[in-house]
Amino acid sequence: MKKLLLSSFVAIAAIVFTFSACNKGSGDEILIGEYGSLTGSEATFGISSTNGLKLAVEEINSSGGLLGKKVKLITYDDQGKPSEAQTVVQRLIKNDNVVAVIGEVASSRSKAAAPKCQENKIPMITPASTNPEVTAIGDYIFRVCFIDPFQATVLTKFAINSLKVKKVAILKDVKNAYSTGLADFFEKEFKAAGGEIVEIQSYSAGDKDFKAQLTAIKSRNPEAIFIPGYYTDVGLIAIQAREIGITVPLFGGDGWESEKLTEGKAKDALEGCYFSTHVSTENPDPAVQNFIKKYKEKYNMMPDAMSFLAYDAGMILFDAIKRAGVTEPEKIKNELAKTVNFAGVTGKISINEQRNAVKPAVILEIKGGLFKYKETVQP
Ligand code: PHE
Repeated sequence: MKKLLLSSFVAIAAIVFTFSACNKGSGDEILIGEYGSLTGSEATFGISSTNGLKLAVEEINSSGGLLGKKVKLITYDDQGKPSEAQTVVQRLIKNDNVVAVIGEVASSRSKAAAPKCQENKIPMITPASTNPEVTAIGDYIFRVCFIDPFQATVLTKFAINSLKVKKVAILKDVKNAYSTGLADFFEKEFKAAGGEIVEIQSYSAGDKDFKAQLTAIKSRNPEAIFIPGYYTDVGLIAIQAREIGITVPLFGGDGWESEKLTEGKAKDALEGCYFSTHVSTENPDPAVQNFIKKYKEKYNMMPDAMSFLAYDAGMILFDAIKRAGVTEPEKIKNELAKTVNFAGVTGKISINEQRNAVKPAVILEIKGGLFKYKETVQP
C-alpha cells in the first residue's frame, strides 16, 4: 500500500511538474519580464521603452491575448546600474517565473544581465542595445535593432559622402561599452574609406568639464567631431565646444536620441549637427504614423527610437509565442530565431544567425532643436 501511495505520488508530482514546465507562468496569464532605467540619469531610455512595450501588451490583450491567455508584463527599474540590472533580471526569472525578458536599452546593462537569461535558458530580447557582444552571449539572446559595426559604416558613408569630411576627431565615453565599441568600429571603417582620425579623446559619463579634451581636439583642426556617447553628456559637450570656438559639425549615433538632447543652450550648440538612429518620426509610412498617434494619445508625448523598438520587441515575442503554440522558453527561443520579414513599426525585421536584426538606419539633422529626416542607409 505504502509503495502504491508513493508511486502514485511520484506520478502525480511528475504530471504537475510537466504541466507547470510546459506552462510556465501558468494560470490564465503569460508572464513577460522587463527591465530598464526608469530612474537615474538615463531615465528617458527606460520610460520610452516601457511605454512602447506597454502599448504592445495592451494591443495583444485587447485582440484576445495569446494562446487564449492574457499577457502580463512585470517591469523592474534597474536605476541605470549594471549590477541592479543583473539583480532584477534574476528576480524576474527566479521569483516571478517569466517566460521571456525584454530589455535593456543600454548595451552595458544588457551585457550585465543577459548572462542570467542565458544560464537559466530564458529568452531575452533587447530592443535597442547595438553593441555586438550582447547577442554573442548566447543562443537565448536576441535584438530587434541593428548592430554598431553597421552603424559605423552608416556614419562613415555619411561623413564622407554627405558631410564631405576627411579629417575627423573622436570624443568617446570610456565608461560606456556602447561608446567605446562604436568609436572603435567607426575608426576602422573611416580609415578604410580613406579618412583620417586626427585625434581621439575620452571622458566618463557624468563629467561636467570637457574643455581640456575639446582644446586638444581643436588644435588638430578636424573638419568634424564624432561623439559616440549618450544624450546625457552630448548637450554639455556641444555647448563647451562652441564656447571655445569649435564651429565644425558634431555627429553621433543612436545614443543621442532624446528630446532632452537639445534642452537649453544645447539647442543652438547642436544646430546643423547629425546622428544616426533607428527611425524617423517624419516617415510617412502609415505604420509609423499610426504608432505615433496611438502613443501620443496614451502618453501625451512623442515616442522616440526606444519606444518604437520596444513595441517591436514585444510584438516579435508575441508572434514567436503564437507560432510556438506553448510558453516553453526553449520553444519560444527556437521560434524567435526563425523570425523573417516581421512587419514592425521600425521596418521589416528578420533575425539573422547571430540573433541580430538586419535593417536600415536613418540619419537625422538637428534643426531648431528638432530632429529632421536627412537620409536612409540600407544594410
Ligand atoms: N544603442 C545604444 C546602446 O547600445 C542604446 C540606445 C538605443 C540609445 C537607441 C538611444 C537610442 O547602448
